[in-house]
Amino acid sequence: MSAKSTLAGIRSIEDFDLKDQRVFLRLDLNVPIKNGTITDTTRIDAALPTIRYALEHGAKLVVASHLGRPELNSEGTPTDESLAKYSLEPVAKKLQELLNIEVILVEEPESEAPSALLRSLKKNQMILLENLRFNKDETKNGEELADAICTYTDIYINDAFGASHRAHATIVGMPTKVKQKGIGFLMKKEIEMLDKIMVAPESPFITILGGAKVSDKIGVIENLIDKVDVFLIGGAMAYTFLAAQKVAVGSSLVEKDKVKYAGDLFERVKARDKKIVLPVDHKIVTKIDSASDLKTTATPAIPSGWLGVDIGPKTVELFRRELQNAKTVFWNGPMGVFETRAFADGTFAVAKALTEIPHATTVVGGGDSAAAIKASGYADQVTHISTGGGASLEFLQGDKLPGIEALRK
Ligand code: 3PG
Repeated sequence: MSAKSTLAGIRSIEDFDLKDQRVFLRLDLNVPIKNGTITDTTRIDAALPTIRYALEHGAKLVVASHLGRPELNSEGTPTDESLAKYSLEPVAKKLQELLNIEVILVEEPESEAPSALLRSLKKNQMILLENLRFNKDETKNGEELADAICTYTDIYINDAFGASHRAHATIVGMPTKVKQKGIGFLMKKEIEMLDKIMVAPESPFITILGGAKVSDKIGVIENLIDKVDVFLIGGAMAYTFLAAQKVAVGSSLVEKDKVKYAGDLFERVKARDKKIVLPVDHKIVTKIDSASDLKTTATPAIPSGWLGVDIGPKTVELFRRELQNAKTVFWNGPMGVFETRAFADGTFAVAKALTEIPHATTVVGGGDSAAAIKASGYADQVTHISTGGGASLEFLQGDKLPGIEALRK
């Protein structure tokens, strides 16, 4: 493993003898739930290989995760509304169904219950601790919760990449207390793929950036500027870049305080013999909540009273041509308001273009971009979709993630 690898000094679940050991597995099972039904199981599916491996190797398994951001009252306990809304019960049911074993949901991780259950846990059973954020210690990295779980943990495994940017009790507190600690398969894959982009991306390296705000992406732009050959910029953030080029953008969203940054970036990228490619046409409307007057501009300019909601077909073609020769592609942020089908063509076409590049490593950042590529139907044709939203951006910004650092020997 290269000295630059983020994985250096971190053990993997495969390095331990799990037989009859009490293994605590921190996962990110923070999935969207509507009326008690999980609407996207991606994070659960991504956790299965590590769970299965632990069970197959004889571990006495305790799995844990946070879900949402429950509200706690003044005593530090969850409000009734939060208890109902953020219980992991639907996740326990889903895991039971997918793994075909009994998943025992334990409401109080800091009680005697998990230790007692572990003493008589059968092969076809595992424990799932109730939402860790029901305990005030989790987000505060408080000692009590971490100490309590450590009393019934022999081996600590973190497979919660999506939460590894949080210095929380079960992400940072526990691994500083447990000697035998390591990562699961998902964490390994996430780090390997993002390292591939950060450390030695094969050239040409194209980064596609979209989404609402330039300010959310500045850290990533700054960290990747010396590695990327071409930046393709779409989505609402493109209007700030167009404004910097003195192109009319009508009533489109512009971050006024980032126009100068965007203008300077053009110069800096040019000085490095690289380029930023902006949309040359747009889908526009007069009201963001209605597609009734949707039309396509003939030029990069947007008339007054109109706002951009998607990139246009000429831009799709331009981006597609740029992407054709790429060897590495990182995509973060949709090209428009893809949640509205009438405004999703550009985002879906870029997703398709990713799948048509021969022999490229194509990585999609988490959050909105992951949702967008799933909605496009091309999710299974890219190299990697990160399960981390904030975590993948912080990683690509070059930040050291506390949950990863806590795992070094
Ligand atoms: C996520 O959804 O990005 C992770 O689960 C982290 O959740 P958080 O932003 O509430 O800490």
